Amino acid sequence: MCGIFGCIMKQGNAAPIIRASLKRLEYRGYDSVGVATIQDGKIYVKKDQGKIDDVHSILNLDDLPGNLGIGHTRWATHGAPLKINAHPHSDCTGQIVVVHNGIIENFSELKLELENNGHKFVSKTDTEVIAHLIEENLRKNPELELANAVLEAVKRLEGSYAVAVISTREPDKIICARNESPLVLGISENAVYCASDIPAFLPFTNKVVLINDGEFIILSSKGYEIRRINDFSIVAREPEIVDWTPEMAVKQGYPHFMIKEIHEQPATLRNTLRMQEHYLDLISTFLDRAREVFLVACGTSYHACLAASYMFSKLAFLPTYPVYASEFMEQHGKSVNIDSTILAVSQSGETADTLAAVTCAQQRAATILGLTNVIGSTLTRVSRVYVGQQSGPEIGVAATKTFTSQLSVLAQLALRLSKKRGKISQDEMDDIAERLEKLPDIVETIIQTQKEKAKQLAKKYKDAKTFFFLGRGVSTATAYEGRLKLMEIAYIPSIAFPAGESKHGPISLIEAGLPVVFICAKDGAHKTLIGNIMEMKARGASIIAIVEEGDEEIKALSDDYVEVPKGIPEVLSPIPFAIPLQLLAYYMALEKGLNPDTPRNLAKSVTVK
Ligand code: F6R
Repeated sequence: MCGIFGCIMKQGNAAPIIRASLKRLEYRGYDSVGVATIQDGKIYVKKDQGKIDDVHSILNLDDLPGNLGIGHTRWATHGAPLKINAHPHSDCTGQIVVVHNGIIENFSELKLELENNGHKFVSKTDTEVIAHLIEENLRKNPELELANAVLEAVKRLEGSYAVAVISTREPDKIICARNESPLVLGISENAVYCASDIPAFLPFTNKVVLINDGEFIILSSKGYEIRRINDFSIVAREPEIVDWTPEMAVKQGYPHFMIKEIHEQPATLRNTLRMQEHYLDLISTFLDRAREVFLVACGTSYHACLAASYMFSKLAFLPTYPVYASEFMEQHGKSVNIDSTILAVSQSGETADTLAAVTCAQQRAATILGLTNVIGSTLTRVSRVYVGQQSGPEIGVAATKTFTSQLSVLAQLALRLSKKRGKISQDEMDDIAERLEKLPDIVETIIQTQKEKAKQLAKKYKDAKTFFFLGRGVSTATAYEGRLKLMEIAYIPSIAFPAGESKHGPISLIEAGLPVVFICAKDGAHKTLIGNIMEMKARGASIIAIVEEGDEEIKALSDDYVEVPKGIPEVLSPIPFAIPLQLLAYYMALEKGLNPDTPRNLAKSVTVK
């Protein structure tokens, strides 16, 4: 998730407007910033790694000349957060510059092709191919208009993009295109704007044109023209008036970041399906060769590791040890050695406990692998190989979209490993891979159809003093995550156990009306889980079941249920089953008058041990 911006001013310089607007998009990323403007047939660029204010204090981003320009604030996905990878990126001649938000899946092939045609690349980004593709189109056909050269370039892109392009060839235009990454236009008396999000230009105008996937924009001082990428046909669309306050705009109209981020999950899960194959392959090779594998993390990331231990076992027959990072040194510090591999999972890549475990393992010559959302974080620097989960910044303190993305990446690793080891049939692997592709849509359906249900449940159970969360198999991890969400933002003491363990102690807490949430994936443990539900029901518990559609047997036993679509493979079930639990926690916090974005005593990144 990055922020792009562009504007054409009728009066005045563009650069100060671009810088101020990027600042309002900084929530989308802050690894680096860059601005490009045009004046008198020349392109001016300033960019560097770091946050906007820091870069501005050194470079003075405002003093670029010209009434037209583009800018970018970056959340690194391809290439480290260094100056060389900061946008805008340009072609070989420096006459075409591009800013981009998204992931170009086929960039390696395109890059190779362009390099073979003599193009020189300077960055490690996927974005740079766009500038060179446009240049190539113009080289081949110098008569081409800029818009057509950009159009032909975007037609070759696979993946997600919102791009804005400027060029000295037609210095009065900004050309944009969108596929699966957000893009909006702002229209005012004095200017036209394009941006990743409305807050960027909201102080200047509330007249907004929303751009859809597959659309292409030509911005000029005369206004905007929308066309379809596939046939270049014209789209007529009038601006709408948006009556958001700036604060609402940053949250895209949602009252809290947490619910906004819950809603982002279909998109963030789609991004996880665009991982760089090379790194997934490398990591799975290391896992395959390891004598022992520890999955090390804290909090929600630990729950992703716990779920992953079931995935690795069931798909690749690889035993792994999920370990709380804070316990790693005590538990395994003496035995970890050169044959051990640590897969450290940390959204922030800065969690002190996780880094301490990594340091301990590294000192004993173990191999460190990383999965993180923050490229350039300490974890990426200390890992032999790492992979970025590409979820974009998460602002709500409670992890939501980053959890489901971690699960998706870990499932992909397990599938790769499975392929290497040949442990399950090709048909089974293909089926799981296919269903993984469908999960973004499934998650979208769950959010749309079950939100109201979660709201009602929160109303009904808001006075409960304690909650239980139970599941078997991989659903144990989902149960732990449901408990953590509810405890941390709604402050309801909650208990989670593998359902089979509850009769070894926790069941003594059950009394009439105590809500017990069962995670009821349709897996090998389903029958036994029904027995566990009966045990709780017999003692008067209120059963809240998260079930697959059509699971009539469990529905009949439940006081309340939330449904997720049918046919989800067991190992993938934590992704869809986590969604109702996130929603329940969110609405429960609201019922209790709490702000779910800022739970007491917690920080987004815990940098103390
Ligand atoms: C819970 C939550 C925390 C983090 C934990 C690890 O919603 O966000 O439990 O999961 O502090 O953080 P990372 O993943 O940044 O290492």
